[in-house]
Amino acid sequence: MQTKTFIAAPIQAKRHNQSFFEELISSLATITSVANPNQILNVPSTQEISQLRSQDIFSANLKLIASSDIFLAEISMPSLGVGFEISKARDLSKPIICIYDTSYAPEISIMIKGIVYENIHFIEYNDINDLIQKLSVLYEKLNLQQTDSVMSHFDELSPIYDKTTEWCADDNILDWFAEEINGKKKHLDLGCGTGLAVGKVDRSMTTIVGVDFSSGMIEQSKNRLDVAIIADACELPFLDGYFDSISIRQMLHYTNPNIALNEAYRVLKEGGCLLTAHISAEFESELEFWEAFKRLTQPQRRRYFTNENLLSLNRESGFQVLNSKSYFINRNVSWKLLKSISVNKEIVEIASEFIARLPTNFSGHFKLSDDGFEYRQHWSLINAKKS
Ligand SMILES: C[S@@+](CC[C@H](N)C(=O)[O-])C[C@H]1O[C@@H](n2cnc3c(N)ncnc32)[C@H](O)[C@@H]1O
Repeated sequence: MQTKTFIAAPIQAKRHNQSFFEELISSLATITSVANPNQILNVPSTQEISQLRSQDIFSANLKLIASSDIFLAEISMPSLGVGFEISKARDLSKPIICIYDTSYAPEISIMIKGIVYENIHFIEYNDINDLIQKLSVLYEKLNLQQTDSVMSHFDELSPIYDKTTEWCADDNILDWFAEEINGKKKHLDLGCGTGLAVGKVDRSMTTIVGVDFSSGMIEQSKNRLDVAIIADACELPFLDGYFDSISIRQMLHYTNPNIALNEAYRVLKEGGCLLTAHISAEFESELEFWEAFKRLTQPQRRRYFTNENLLSLNRESGFQVLNSKSYFINRNVSWKLLKSISVNKEIVEIASEFIARLPTNFSGHFKLSDDGFEYRQHWSLINAKKS
């Protein structure tokens, strides 16, 4: 699962020729995967446009924007549609990259140039090679920034982390981990945070090592773990096949899940078990809502999963899935808490408006109140093995 880039370009207005976009897409694919190659590659001809309903193009594009990690707009030519999409990407807290060819656009739109948003980046280019070189540097920087922002988010949250959500100390999840881990000799908790997930494991039988890249979280974890190490889950400082079991709770969506799971596979011994517990969308149809909602309330998250996504990720890294189950927790989120843990100042207004627009048959059951909102949170608990 790589970074997804949505490319916004004029559909009907004057634009670069097709070969420019084809080259951009194929070059970008080497530094990122492109979310909507069809929108660029198969730019509808005038005849096709007359057959496509504009509402379909509109909703398809908004869906792609919501599920992308990076929003890239070609703004050399004025386009109302691209301007609208930029504004949408900003509402969803996406990193925005605006590229423009100086020979077409000596001056770019003032309303775009003047956007007050910390995560917008402008790239001037002369030709496609110049552009790709500048994009590679920026993607690298954005990746590092993302890692930094996750780390500092958890560093800040660490003193109060255990009390921030209902699920942290949920007995059913903690019991599930303990039952599966008890008796294993060497256990690794990846993205261990304050060590809560393995808090009920019998430590007389099991040595628990925790790894997290947030020093704040590691500091808080010391009483719950035997060894606590500051490291990146994507680059583990352990020998191959060292651990009998590994647990991961609520970490994969903050990092590159493929790399982290490959590392877990590497350091697990043959036959060892991997236990993962993650909040996920109950149905594929709800993924888009959850991705958009989480980008608002917790922009550090890179992505949201369905149960199927999580199973595929396990398998892609070589694990054999033994079983998986759904679990639900009723959550109460107060506006006060949301405000205190969010970087977005208008979070309360945006989130309440967002929830109010949900279809009534939404299975997440959002219920608004003056103090906050309640909803039903879906979890995927997966038990897999290295075989
Ligand atoms: C939501 S917390 C979950 C903590 C703990 N697993 C639990 O269930 O209470 C996510 C944790 O993952 C850590 N994390 C995210 N990406 C990481 C990475 N690439 N390497 C190590 N830790 C990471 C964060 O620092 C944070 O402590």
